[in-house]
Amino acid sequence: MRIIETRNYEEMSTLAAEMIGAQVMLKPRCVLGLATGSSPIGTYAKLVEAYRAGRLDFSQVRTVNLDEYCGLAGDNPQSYRYFMNHHLFSQVNIPQENTYLPNGTASDMEEESRRYEDLVEELGGADLQLLGIGHNGHIGFNEPTDCFPAEVHPVALTESTIQANSRLFDRIEDVPTQAITMGIGTIMKARRILLIAGADKKGIVEKALTGKVTPLVPASVLQLHRDVTVITCKEG
Ligand code: F6R
Repeated sequence: MRIIETRNYEEMSTLAAEMIGAQVMLKPRCVLGLATGSSPIGTYAKLVEAYRAGRLDFSQVRTVNLDEYCGLAGDNPQSYRYFMNHHLFSQVNIPQENTYLPNGTASDMEEESRRYEDLVEELGGADLQLLGIGHNGHIGFNEPTDCFPAEVHPVALTESTIQANSRLFDRIEDVPTQAITMGIGTIMKARRILLIAGADKKGIVEKALTGKVTPLVPASVLQLHRDVTVITCKEG
C-alpha cells in the first residue's frame, strides 16, 4: 500500500487526477470505477482540465460507479447519476452509453443488484477504482456491520451517513434511506484502488489502514488488496 500525504485538497486532487489520467493514457479502453461525494469533485475538475487542454481522451473509457440512492431518477439533482453527469461525463468526450451506475429506480433492487454485479464483471472489472471514505469507515455504501458483503446489494443507510449526506439536501427528511452499492467483494476485484481522503478523515483513515481488518471498519479490508494508493491531505 502506498500512502501519500499532500498539503491540501488541491494537491490531492491533482495527484489523483494524474493517476487516473495515466490509467486512461496507458489503456484508452479502460474501465474506471468512480465515486461521488465531496472528495472527488476536485479530481474530476482536474480531469476535465486535462481533457480541455487536449491531454486526455475519454472516447473509449467505460465507467462504473460505486453506488446510487434508491428512489432518485437520474434527472434528480441529488442523484449520483446527476452528480456524475454534472462533474465529469457532460464535460469530457465520454459517450454517455459507456457510463454506468446502478439504477436507483429499478422496481426490484435485488434483481438490479445482480444485473449491476454481472455488468461490472462483463466489462472485465475496474482497472482502477476511485474511493472516498465515510467517517465511520464505509466505502461505497458498505456500512459497518458483521460481514463483508461480496456483491452489489441494496442497503439501509445508517443514521450517521444520513446525517453526513443531509448537508446536500434541503431537509434531512429528503435524504433517501436506502441505496444500492457495489459490495466489498466487487470493490476488491478492481485491479488497482485509489482512495482519497480529506483532512477531516485523518482519524478514520489511520484506523482503517493500521488497525485490525474488520467489517466494523469496512475500509480496513483494503489492507488485503495488493495495489492500493491512498492520498490524504493535511488541510482542507
Ligand atoms: C460515494 C461513496 C461514499 C463516499 C463517502 C465519502 O459514491 O461511495 O462512500 O465516498 O461517503 O464522502 P465524501 O467524499 O463526501 O466525504
